[in-house]
Amino acid sequence: MTFPPQFLDEIRARVPLEGVIGKRVRLLRRGRELIGLCPFHKEKTPSFTVNEDKGFFHCFGCGAHGDVIGFLMRDEGLSFPEAVERLAGDAGLALPARDPRAEAREKERHSLFGVIEAAAAWFEGELKGSRGAAARRYLDARGVDEATRAHFRLGFAPDSRNALRTALEKDGITEAMLLDAGLIVAPDDDRPPYDRFRGRVIFPICDRRGRVVAFGGRALGERQPKYLNSPETPLFAKGSLLYGHHLAAPAARKANRVIAVEGYMDVIALHQAGIAEAVAPLGTALTEQQLEAMWRLAEDPVLCFDGDEAGVRAAARAVERALPRLSAKRSLRFATLPAGQDPDTMVRDRGRRAMTEIVDAAIPLSDQLWNMVAGGRTLDTPEARARVNKQLQDQIAQIPDRDLGFRYQEDFRQRLRLPWQGRRPGGAPSFVAPEPPVRPGEALGSGGQGTAQPRERALLQILLSFPALALEQHEALAGLHLETPRFAAVVAAMIDWAESGPEPEGAELRAALVGQGLDGVVEELVGQGAHFLNRPANIDRARDLFVDALKRQHQRLEEQATRAEAEAAHTDEEAWQHTRERILRLQETAKADTDIPDLGAAPRASGA
Ligand code: UTP
Ligand code: MN
Repeated sequence: MTFPPQFLDEIRARVPLEGVIGKRVRLLRRGRELIGLCPFHKEKTPSFTVNEDKGFFHCFGCGAHGDVIGFLMRDEGLSFPEAVERLAGDAGLALPARDPRAEAREKERHSLFGVIEAAAAWFEGELKGSRGAAARRYLDARGVDEATRAHFRLGFAPDSRNALRTALEKDGITEAMLLDAGLIVAPDDDRPPYDRFRGRVIFPICDRRGRVVAFGGRALGERQPKYLNSPETPLFAKGSLLYGHHLAAPAARKANRVIAVEGYMDVIALHQAGIAEAVAPLGTALTEQQLEAMWRLAEDPVLCFDGDEAGVRAAARAVERALPRLSAKRSLRFATLPAGQDPDTMVRDRGRRAMTEIVDAAIPLSDQLWNMVAGGRTLDTPEARARVNKQLQDQIAQIPDRDLGFRYQEDFRQRLRLPWQGRRPGGAPSFVAPEPPVRPGEALGSGGQGTAQPRERALLQILLSFPALALEQHEALAGLHLETPRFAAVVAAMIDWAESGPEPEGAELRAALVGQGLDGVVEELVGQGAHFLNRPANIDRARDLFVDALKRQHQRLEEQATRAEAEAAHTDEEAWQHTRERILRLQETAKADTDIPDLGAAPRASGA
């Protein structure tokens, strides 16, 4: 029920405060006012005053304040319309006719959304009003322009215990609703509730549809806490929303890019600089729901963290959350800011271009994971590489998408093989693909590609003949790089099988591979008519052969890498000639290697 303002004024004029309050409080006259013991908090000396001329009561002890309607609401817990109806009855005034549209509006306002919206509008007004001068100066100093303030609906909560409550209660919003909305705080003792946000710039937090559901408030100065947020309410679960989501969504979908930054001011500064795809979590680490929300906007959200230790930890947590949800169409990229900068200071100090460059240079999740595990570690011993490999495997195991997991395996296998190269600046992958260096228009002959198959076949034949060996050596298998795709698939399936905890004798390896759809290649390797020379006599002999073959493969790959490196280094004709000679020498070595007939004639052939 909405009442016209004139009707409410009529009630206030007709019903003396003294009459209503006097029934509850013993009032004594003191000058122009009446005083008494406050009915809203416990006190022994009177600090409760009633000013009939001004039409309000005020308590200097607890700050309770209001007119005659407010007194009844507070004293008897009535809703606004209930209080008005009661007073109208007492004063002999007929209630005005009902207006359905006004009633619908009022119902909306009284819903929790309505309460919060009313508060947002009031905060906005306060930022523009006389009390908002300091907040306006603060935003000026931080370079937030008028259009941006309006776009984000920034506001101000004056430094008062009950300015918001008083204002909203005038609109018929009750204390209970304000409590539900998280706008006022009820202390543990019996003092009355007070406004949650005081003396703070207000950042409305909206849901995906752009409805305000909560607020963040920033202190104007050094006051702690720097940011204060609404508590969780029926409308606000902070882990499921992103600040700026509804403003960023159209741009993000269009560009297939969304950028997560850490703070409210970062989002605002980026939008103002024209980077409208920015969002932020609400003061916590990114949650799974927030990742999901970003994946609905773009395939590879860019997470932008400060260059400090906290930023590194935040990135690590994001990797952990993301891995179990990864797919070829849902990944992440990581951008790191220079130490001491956040996106807000970046765009302000160095401009939009500098910020865009940082976002564009974001590294893929695979690089981030590698840096997390292997970064700063010396990988010059097999033990060190095995340790790193173990940790990488543990992480990869969380990726639910089999093919993607396999690609990560491949990627890390390459990197572990070439540990001395580390990461190249600019986010390029740390490995050099082992391809023969062929200059445009100049064929140098095959670098061993065509010779890999017999070696690889022999290796797999050994493993298939001695499944217990595959089981025992499965960590080493992860470091095996086979060039023949169907054989590489067998190795990947073997690793999966070994990690699935099979019988120690490994009896069911073949069945497991067949179960993976690899029956064709299993048949090719060890089926009827398969050409299998030099079958080792026992597992010890097989192990020797396997370990030796692995070692020689690593040598070959290092040579290939040297070759690729040399090629990358060539700048002019003279250098290219030099490189060419090196390559030819390496090819000789490779040829000599393939002259050894399969594995059976390995140099350490003993005990057969
Ligand atoms: P920062 O301290 O990085 O804030 O916290 P900021 O955005 O750079 O702040 P300005 O630039 O000094 O204004 C990042 C985010 O962490 C949450 C807020 O969501 C903030 O935006 N936070 C921070 C809090 O919730 N409470 C705090 O006391 C501080
Ligand atoms: Mn900041």
